[in-house]
Amino acid sequence: MFRRRTFWLLVGLLALMVLILAACAPPGGGEKEASGELNLLCTPQVEWCEGMKAEFEKKYPNITVNFVRMSSGESLTRLRNEKDNPQFDIWWGGPVDSFIAAKQEGLLEKYETPAQDKIINKKLMLDPDKYWAGIYVGSLGFATNKNWSDENGGWVPKSWDDLLDPRLKGQLMVAHPSSSGTSYTALCTILQIKGEEAGWEYLKQYAGQVNQFTKSGSAPARFVGAGEAAVGVVFSHDIVKQIENGLPLILSFPEEGTGYEIGGMGIIKGAKNLENAKLWYDWALQPETQELGPKYGAYQAPTVEGAKPSKPELLEVKLIDYDFEWCGKNKKAFVDRFTNEIAGAENLKK
Ligand code: G6P
Repeated sequence: MFRRRTFWLLVGLLALMVLILAACAPPGGGEKEASGELNLLCTPQVEWCEGMKAEFEKKYPNITVNFVRMSSGESLTRLRNEKDNPQFDIWWGGPVDSFIAAKQEGLLEKYETPAQDKIINKKLMLDPDKYWAGIYVGSLGFATNKNWSDENGGWVPKSWDDLLDPRLKGQLMVAHPSSSGTSYTALCTILQIKGEEAGWEYLKQYAGQVNQFTKSGSAPARFVGAGEAAVGVVFSHDIVKQIENGLPLILSFPEEGTGYEIGGMGIIKGAKNLENAKLWYDWALQPETQELGPKYGAYQAPTVEGAKPSKPELLEVKLIDYDFEWCGKNKKAFVDRFTNEIAGAENLKK
């Protein structure tokens, strides 16, 4: 009898201790406590967006990520239109030129976090006022259809001027700079290499070579791979991905130097799920997160210490000293000039 009473006394004491410990547990914010929704505006290719949603939900099982995949220019227009009633909480991916433009228009939330301390080159990859952070790096390349090249003596373009070769009349594919950050990066690269006056003259001829402008920046690699045109201007990591998918493409880079992107990320001003947006922002700056790309066919280089680049050779080419601030601040003016004076954005190929 005595032993039975002692046993139940011990059980009672144990239960009391568990209750006291639970009451002293730190306030929410732990991975299990975070809950609710996160509305993500995702610009890179959709399979990477899907992968990042799944990976984030694995880490935060009580948060549901709803995403829309949208190219850079479309995203900027959407954020402008929704300024007074933002539907998204965080924008992830696409060249920072558009994030610089978004910051200028008051569309982003300032967010300072210890996670940014890992960024390898803060001057290049982190907004000094903390409205955006860089999450990846990619260089622009030329994708040439291998069969077309074989029929043309093995020729592939090796300079920006080669894109004006008469052989490429109606055989060039690139996205339209109004919708695509990839295409805008090419436009601003040309203006920096050739200077504004000669650059705009070049862009007139360059647009004259285009078979049909596409909406998304990575699409020309697929269409050129399918033989719909001879050469595409696309980020090199997207070309490598299509080559790995078995498309007959040859990757080459312009000898004068090529432009490159810092892929950006920013929290939307007035985000309804601000705390969850901060969790994504911090998570996206972790080395283990940035090493997830190749699992989803994304070979962009990382921006944080401790993350290993999957295809370092794609940045071991001649890069221009791309002026992100200048290109970002002039994005609206340059896109409007291209659209109004050189090539409209109707009938973009999807
Ligand atoms: C692809 C590239 C990304 C790039 C994005 C820009 O997804 O892999 O590195 O940031 O295109 O998209 P857009 O359609 O705006 O050119």
